[in-house]
Amino acid sequence: MKVFASHRLPGNGLETLAQHCDLRVWPREEPVPNAELIHSLSDCDGFICLLTNRVNRDLLTHCPRLRFVSSMSVGVDHVDVPALTARGIPLGNTPGVLVDTTAELALALILAAARRIPEADRFVRAGNWRPELPWRPDMMVGKDLAGATLGLVGLGAIGQAVAHRAQAFGMRVIAWNRTAKDVAGVRNVSLSELLETSDVVSVHVALTEATRNLIDANAIAAMKPGAILVNTARGGIVDEAALADALKDQRLFSAGVDVFETEPVEMDSPLLALENVVVAPHIGSATERTRARMADLAVANALAALEGKPMPHCVNPEVYSA
Ligand code: GLV
Repeated sequence: MKVFASHRLPGNGLETLAQHCDLRVWPREEPVPNAELIHSLSDCDGFICLLTNRVNRDLLTHCPRLRFVSSMSVGVDHVDVPALTARGIPLGNTPGVLVDTTAELALALILAAARRIPEADRFVRAGNWRPELPWRPDMMVGKDLAGATLGLVGLGAIGQAVAHRAQAFGMRVIAWNRTAKDVAGVRNVSLSELLETSDVVSVHVALTEATRNLIDANAIAAMKPGAILVNTARGGIVDEAALADALKDQRLFSAGVDVFETEPVEMDSPLLALENVVVAPHIGSATERTRARMADLAVANALAALEGKPMPHCVNPEVYSA
């Protein structure tokens, strides 16, 4: 069977996979051009992709032999899952292994945004901390986390991992989830109560049609003045233009943004012009250990599919009962 991988993966999982199929790996750092992708997949049984590969109906029309897709990601908003399911194609993803790592990044952004860390770093490097303007009571003052309320939009595994860490910082934690969840020390509230009462709002829902633009201009306007917004989930959930306006007016204190509607973020994004925004290039799962584990799961899903077995982590397991 033929399998195409759109990028090299960490570790030696792809070497193992190559012993079980005719594997072609896109060798370059730059993304595989669309025409090349279509050509490569035209006679492939399997596709190992990244979250940067759009697996949509158009692509699928060029993949007559496709029998499985394995994405090295937990999020699958880059894939048209109903289209795969309609063709009986299982989609694998990599849940679980990136929970702690992503929660750590959320906390890092919360701390960085609350204590203005990147701004302080820029301040020192620019030579603004000088003898005639030394330490002073109002220099670079931020917000305390202890005693503040953290509102989690989404209380899945990552939201819960953020809750535990925030509790260790002395934060009160409230959460909104589509179905309320019983998590120690976390009070379930409506989204409007969360927005109105949280000092920090952190987003942890998957991007779906139901959550697209969930934190829209009205939601941002409903946030507590002086609050902080952090998004480590997906761009497309938060209205970036409305967020930038609220930050520019200093109605919101600051924001930490790891994920953008368009990635890589365009350099003329209004968010990039603001001192009170901490940005990162979608690095929620970016640690050596976690990326290796994600690669291992992506390969395990592919190996199972090659052997005609159910994938260990399948987004659309209904394909197996059809
Ligand atoms: C990262 O964003 C992922 O979905 O794995």
